[in-house]
Amino acid sequence: MIDKNKQNILIAAAIQARREAYAPYSHFYVGAALLTKDNEIVTGINMESSSYGLSVCAERNTIATAIGKGKRDFEAMAIVSQGGVTPCGACRQVIFDICGNIDIILADEEGKIREITNTKALLPNAFGDKNLA
Ligand code: THU
Repeated sequence: MIDKNKQNILIAAAIQARREAYAPYSHFYVGAALLTKDNEIVTGINMESSSYGLSVCAERNTIATAIGKGKRDFEAMAIVSQGGVTPCGACRQVIFDICGNIDIILADEEGKIREITNTKALLPNAFGDKNLA
C-alpha cells in the first residue's frame, strides 16, 4: 500500500481537481488523482451532458488523460466525492484494464479517508485482456 505521505498528496490533488467538476445535473462533484509509477500525478473530474448517458465519471476521465500523456504504469488513485463513494462498475472495469491492481483511496469532500481498497477487491474475478488471448 502507498505510504501516508503519498496518500495525503493524492487526496489534496483530487480535492483541488474536484473544484472544476462539471456536474450541473446531478450536482455530485467528483475529483480523482492518479499516481504514476514515475511519480507524477494526473487529475480529472466528472463531466456531465444534458444527454445524461453521455456523462463521464472522474475516474475514466482521469485515466484517459493519463494515457494521453503517455503514462502506462500506475500506482494508486484517490477519488474525492461527497461521502467518499466507491467507483461505479464501468470505472472498475476500466481501472482494472488500464491500471491493474492499484490502491484506491476513497475520501470525502473534506479529504477524510473513508476506505482504502484496491482494484482486485472492487472487481473480483474480472474479465480482462487474458480472456481475449
Ligand atoms: N460519478 C463519478 O464521477 N465517479 C463515481 O465514482 C461515481 C459517479 C459521477 C457520474 C455523474 O456525473 C455523477 O457522479 C452522478 O452519478
